[in-house]
Amino acid sequence: MKDHKELLSDEISLDPPDWEEMRGLGHQMIDDMLDHLQHIRKEPSWRKIPAETKEFLKENIPQLPLAISEIYEEFKKHILPYPSGNTHPRFWAWVQGTGTPFGMLAEMLAAGMNPNTALGEHSAMYVEQQVLNWCKEMMNYPDTSSGILVSGGSMANITALMVARNHQTGKDIRKEGVRAAKGNMTLYCSTETHSCVEKAVEVMGIGSNSLRKIPVDESYRLRIEELERAIKSDLDAGNTPFCVIGNAGTVNTGEIDPLDELLSISKKYNLWYHIDGAFGALAKMAPEYSGKLKTIEEADSVAFDLHKWMYMPFEVGCVLIRDAAAHRSAFSSEPFYLMNHERGLAAGPDPMGNYGLELSRGFKALKVWMSLKEHGVQKYAAAIRQNIAQAFYLGELIERENNLELLTPVSLNIVCYRYKRAGLSEKQLNRINKEIVMSLQEQGIASPSSTVLGGRYAIRVANTNHRSRKEDFEDLVSETVRLGDRLLP
Ligand SMILES: Cc1ncc(COP(=O)(O)O)c(C=O)c1O
Repeated sequence: MKDHKELLSDEISLDPPDWEEMRGLGHQMIDDMLDHLQHIRKEPSWRKIPAETKEFLKENIPQLPLAISEIYEEFKKHILPYPSGNTHPRFWAWVQGTGTPFGMLAEMLAAGMNPNTALGEHSAMYVEQQVLNWCKEMMNYPDTSSGILVSGGSMANITALMVARNHQTGKDIRKEGVRAAKGNMTLYCSTETHSCVEKAVEVMGIGSNSLRKIPVDESYRLRIEELERAIKSDLDAGNTPFCVIGNAGTVNTGEIDPLDELLSISKKYNLWYHIDGAFGALAKMAPEYSGKLKTIEEADSVAFDLHKWMYMPFEVGCVLIRDAAAHRSAFSSEPFYLMNHERGLAAGPDPMGNYGLELSRGFKALKVWMSLKEHGVQKYAAAIRQNIAQAFYLGELIERENNLELLTPVSLNIVCYRYKRAGLSEKQLNRINKEIVMSLQEQGIASPSSTVLGGRYAIRVANTNHRSRKEDFEDLVSETVRLGDRLLP
């Protein structure tokens, strides 16, 4: 083994020994990925991963170098052909955006610059500030509000809820913990709220029993009278209600809670009002929805994902907080090693670590910055409107089919439906529809996902796909019927 002296006489680096080879391969990679995206429609929507690939991906850690061209061949053989498929025009599973070629290139530039967007006087910090200002413009939040880019809706929601928890009680929850509050700290959302909120409440030490899941009406919207009853009952029991969460687009059906009425209740009981608009908040840019979603502008905080309905490459979400001081005081921490200076590299904007849980952060803002410049916000609004129009069209197609049933009226970009035949039990229908979903995916036809609504298995199409076309939905309908007919007992 070499000693220190020998090591220093023969220093190494991880830069390529042959820059020209790296340059050539880099160009090839860009060509290949652009070809891949350009022709993605010709690919199946999903492919099974072969056993050989799964075995290959269990190999032990490489001890010695492999040629970069070989590594790239491995990528092309084992990784690229088996994506989840969310770049495909017939992918509508969960809620996943599609990405764009320019977004991909922006990711490469961000990785090349490789800044840590935690603190300091460097361009990435200012790009993020500008992107946050653009996010405020999209949501019509005041200039004085604050925000942070995070990995996604889950982090955006927990960030906002931590601010709410620390701000609403008037106690120093950061130091004393939730035990400083009177009774239990309680918060309220509908039963349709995304599971990440429950997880956030658990992580925050509040305990999921204190997340009051308020029942919904037949349209899956929170029942206001039940909410008020729950708040009153907590007050009577000596608890500390602190936050109401409204959904701008529920994950199951895309329904929008009665946001105005939630605002009134929050004001009446002096509660923090947070809106989870992971995808739905962005529909605010569509004229048909701007009125319905206007209340977002008056909420204390809003969470939304740019990797969902802004089609940015994963990951990037955003949270905006109306009261910047409350935001900062929930997270600020200024150890000596992170001190800001008046000049030099350690000057710069307020460190982002004062606004969120993370310290080290990548340059997520660049893909947002470049993509918004590439298309302009109006094109995004048009794409969102197109997705909504497609969802309504799919709803109509389903209603026209005797053997399909819409399980809830379409209200935004999510369509829940099932194959149905008279004489079949609910159990049989659930089994057939689950088979249909798996077959659609396995045959590479389309990738919807699923949910259960009122005990009924639903084929769920969440459309945040800028590549989908009208005929993709027509094919989905005819293929659902074809598969359903085949699966009849
Ligand atoms: C309404 C809603 N909230 C929160 C989330 C979680 O977002 P993420 O997956 O980006 O963490 C989702 C994800 O689909 C969602 O639909």
